[in-house]
Amino acid sequence: MRHRQHFGFKAEPFAKDIATKDLLKLASMIGVKERLDYCLNLGGILAIFGEVGSGKTTALRWSLAQYHASDIKIVSIVATTGSITEFYKQLSWGLDLAPKSISRTTLLCECRAVIKELATGRKQRVLVCIDEAQLLRRDVLAELHTVMNFEHDGANYLAMVLCGQPALLENLQYRAAAPLASRVMSKAHVRSLTQVEMEEYLSHHLRVAGVKRRVSYQRRAPESALSGIPTPSSRAPYDRWAVRIRSR
Ligand SMILES: Nc1ncnc2c1ncn2[C@@H]1O[C@H](COP(=O)(O)OP(=O)(O)OP(=O)(O)O)[C@@H](O)[C@H]1O
Ligand SMILES: [Mg+2]
Repeated sequence: MRHRQHFGFKAEPFAKDIATKDLLKLASMIGVKERLDYCLNLGGILAIFGEVGSGKTTALRWSLAQYHASDIKIVSIVATTGSITEFYKQLSWGLDLAPKSISRTTLLCECRAVIKELATGRKQRVLVCIDEAQLLRRDVLAELHTVMNFEHDGANYLAMVLCGQPALLENLQYRAAAPLASRVMSKAHVRSLTQVEMEEYLSHHLRVAGVKRRVSYQRRAPESALSGIPTPSSRAPYDRWAVRIRSR
């Protein structure tokens, strides 16, 4: 805690649980939100991809915070390497259902009935967001699109976000995943920060932490070594950047 006093921090800078309102509004976040609007309106899939730590989950978190809960029912799922039945269970819990059966047919029917009821009864569109989607197994990718099949009703009740590392895009190229891939209406590539954005990011976080004095930077690592957004656990920016807080 002594570093807080020394630098005049009111809060820990670079905390992972930074409030949505305190996030630096990056161009990539706005790009994700615009594409999400598009996919929501058409009932399609948005694929968000980028390297580890590039800010994918945060861009999604910020975008979701822009919608009103009464308009959109957001179901957030963190992918696992489990079976499609495990996925349906996660979906059921996200839809506030208590699954009565472990039969995948029953689970799917129950989920679809709730999604349809939300869309037609409460006029709430459902958005299923799957983070770490690169972990989804091939057999899960092959079946996932069936959750979106409401075509007999001629309506799109559900949109989906697949968010993950670039391996996600490779996995979508499997032959078995073609029906799912064909529903991907937009892709958002969240890139690592440029040097200018990085300096803005550091200043922004230090401001949020209560630093009012001028800050200057000196990059210690070559550009090629900078990837992802600095986090406290990576010890960056302390190791990769020398941050100097001026007295005036
Ligand atoms: N716009 C932003 N403003 C402030 N901090 C941010 C912003 N975007 C990302 N961060 C911070 O950068 C770190 C990495 O972001 P995030 O977890 O979203 O990356 P990711 O691409 O989802 O990583 P992973 O591949 O590990 O899932 C987090 O500590 C997060 O709080
Ligand atoms: Mg993430």
